[in-house]
Amino acid sequence: MNPPIHNKLEELESRKRESELGGGQARIDRQHNEGKLTARERIALLFDPGSFQEIDQLVVHRCTDFGLEKQRVPGDGVVTGYGTVRGRLVYAFAQDFTVFGGSLSEAYASKIVKIMDLAMRNGAPVVGLNDSGGARIQEGVMSLAGYADIFLRNTLASGVIPQVSAIMGPCAGGAVYSPAITDFILMVKGTSYMFVTGPDVIKTVTHEEVTKEKLGGADTHNQISGVAQFSADSDEDCLAMIRELLSYLPQNNLEDPPRVAADDDINRVDPQLDAFIPESANQPYEMRELIRTIADEGQFLEVHQDFARNIVVGFLRLDGHSIGVVANQPAFLAGVLDINASRKGARFVRFCDAFNIPLLVLEDVPGFLPGTDQEYGGIIIHGAKLLFALAEATVPKVTVITRKAYGGAYCVMNSKHIRADMNYAYPTAEIAVMGAEGAVNILYRGSPGDRQQKIEEYKQKFANPYIAAERGYVDEIIEPRFTRRKLITAFAMLRNKRDKNPPKKHGNIPL
Ligand code: HXC
Repeated sequence: MNPPIHNKLEELESRKRESELGGGQARIDRQHNEGKLTARERIALLFDPGSFQEIDQLVVHRCTDFGLEKQRVPGDGVVTGYGTVRGRLVYAFAQDFTVFGGSLSEAYASKIVKIMDLAMRNGAPVVGLNDSGGARIQEGVMSLAGYADIFLRNTLASGVIPQVSAIMGPCAGGAVYSPAITDFILMVKGTSYMFVTGPDVIKTVTHEEVTKEKLGGADTHNQISGVAQFSADSDEDCLAMIRELLSYLPQNNLEDPPRVAADDDINRVDPQLDAFIPESANQPYEMRELIRTIADEGQFLEVHQDFARNIVVGFLRLDGHSIGVVANQPAFLAGVLDINASRKGARFVRFCDAFNIPLLVLEDVPGFLPGTDQEYGGIIIHGAKLLFALAEATVPKVTVITRKAYGGAYCVMNSKHIRADMNYAYPTAEIAVMGAEGAVNILYRGSPGDRQQKIEEYKQKFANPYIAAERGYVDEIIEPRFTRRKLITAFAMLRNKRDKNPPKKHGNIPL
């Protein structure tokens, strides 16, 4: 005879409860004491309240070695499922450090693979919350196979659905390569770290002594390596940032980003911008202030804020539409393009182009950074990345030259010649092969005469936007006060833009 239904419901309830307790209260307490939330607490904050649907909650590992057959936790150390973020479908996995240190088993990997496959079939983003000791040591190659299964899916999903990785605890060894393939990495300060080889191995091999934090903490990867794009103060902060980031993105590469109603006049005029660019070409100014002034409600989500600060990238909205901005930053190293700025800019441009996010380029660039460091480091190849990314992008592309557009950097920064749709310049723009002083030094090397007068002559001829405008390389010289209105009108005009690249398997971007 079958047991009564309430017994069956009780069994289900008790299995779920067991799964929800993960590695047990003591390990949950330890997680909290370290300033970390549990996998389920994180999921609850990531998704709209009550929307998360867990899948595979009762999956267990199949390992029978090292006594593991006696330790089976339903769910096996990772929470997977789907729900909504600001009303839109999102898939997620959250690694549960309280179960075998969040380490990845064969069964655990297949849970992640299942939601990645669902996300691809249904065209929605995947968010991974990482907190794991890496491959489950007891499972050997089955665990490695599980990682490789995930890496393949990360790669195939790249450019199809947005993929976001949050590092909220350890992420070491080959495990780092899943986040590395995804579009954005966020790290929580103080509790997260990422490295391919840890401090102990480094000490043995190179005799260097370094802490985990210094080697691969949030500051290291946001400021030095550029591996991470965002740094969060806490788990809560990190999850709120992911929600915000997703709001600018489409669900997949076949959709446009969502339009968010804005209470900001599309005809707003900003008279203060007319005097915003300093008189002297060498005086810095804060490019982000210009971005915030033109954006809907002054909102700007900066990406990669602490890395290569001579270029600024991020998302804003104009008339409610998401726009990706790439801007030289005169307030840091005069906005010069160097290796890291080029890498940062190129990666962001490719993301926007893959996901139908129009691009705005704000240009004030004295050129590429000279020096042996840069040349030996391959500025030729890295600078070409930004050029290649902007040239191949087929989304609407608009440029505003605010001041300097010198040399090769003029060509690279979304010039008309590489298919920008609309090119504007402020009356303060200087479009030339180089600055007047440098030009005079070369043109009149060794010849006596009034150097200052020659500099003035060169400035007179080239330190303005009018020759470019006469050729049609610049479509219009605009009064800065009307920038917002001009850009909104231009992006509206370009909304149905269709352009494509020649058929090919894929290009060969200078990697
Ligand atoms: C199985 C693991 C584990 C792992 C941790 N645990 N890592 N179990 N496989 N990889 C278990 C511990 O036994 C412990 O169990 C619990 O998780 C918590 O671990 P602690 O060491 O107590 O935590 P903590 O002091 O915070 O240290 C965290 C840690 C450390 C730095 C991550 O656990 C660690 O070094 N783990 C091993 C990391 C590692 O070498 N992984 C393999 C890397 S190679 P109890 O029962 O005591 O709670 C790799 C290759 C991927 O990942 C390849 C992809 C291609």
